[in-house]
Amino acid sequence: MSTSVTVTIDDRQIKARAGEKLLWVALENGIYIPHLCAIKEESRPNASCRLCFVEIEGVDRPVTSCTRPIEEGMVVKTRSLRVDRLVKTAFELILSDHNLKCRECPANRNCVLQAIAKERRIKLRYDRFKPIVREFALDDSPAEFAFDRSRCVLCGKCIRADREEAKIGAIGFARRGINRVVTTFKDLPLAESICTECMLCVDVCPVGALYYKKSQRQKKGNPLDYPGNKSSG
Ligand code: FES
Repeated sequence: MSTSVTVTIDDRQIKARAGEKLLWVALENGIYIPHLCAIKEESRPNASCRLCFVEIEGVDRPVTSCTRPIEEGMVVKTRSLRVDRLVKTAFELILSDHNLKCRECPANRNCVLQAIAKERRIKLRYDRFKPIVREFALDDSPAEFAFDRSRCVLCGKCIRADREEAKIGAIGFARRGINRVVTTFKDLPLAESICTECMLCVDVCPVGALYYKKSQRQKKGNPLDYPGNKSSG
């Protein structure tokens, strides 16, 4: 039987299952922490976006809430000077490798980056970090959707949907550092790969990287609650 513990997040006492990750406990209780790469079902989060920092009383440095299991008596602050600085820096680094032509983006006004920027009052523009210029060809080879890598935030949600839900394995990460991309085997266009065009990957993309060609099928609703971002299920 799982043990229940009590934690305090932003002065609110919350009961949850011991060992659950702090990020999901906060989200399920209506306390927002920015996040891009976390997937609830993943037991070992890759913690690559670095957006989900929080402070824990008695811990020297801010920690990523997607990797931190809760413990009895834990006292957490989701905002502090240090947390806000770290989140801003991580966010600006993500922006430096993101096509910021929002008006031309199919996810405009329905994008998790826009939502985080608004929530944290961070300007959606290249600021401290120069934009990383990478030339990507648009992959519009599938019949109903397209993949614009210049908008990909490398969260890995499409890869998980493809592998764990669709059970196909058409896409994965390739290369390292600033050259990291989501791609197919041998970088083939999606239509020439083993992709079955089930489009589960499109549904979990939190930005406008994977999008439906027909706008009426575009994702709708609160961008902080897009399918790949849900705290339950
Ligand atoms: Fe924790 Fe990305 S959500 S590092």
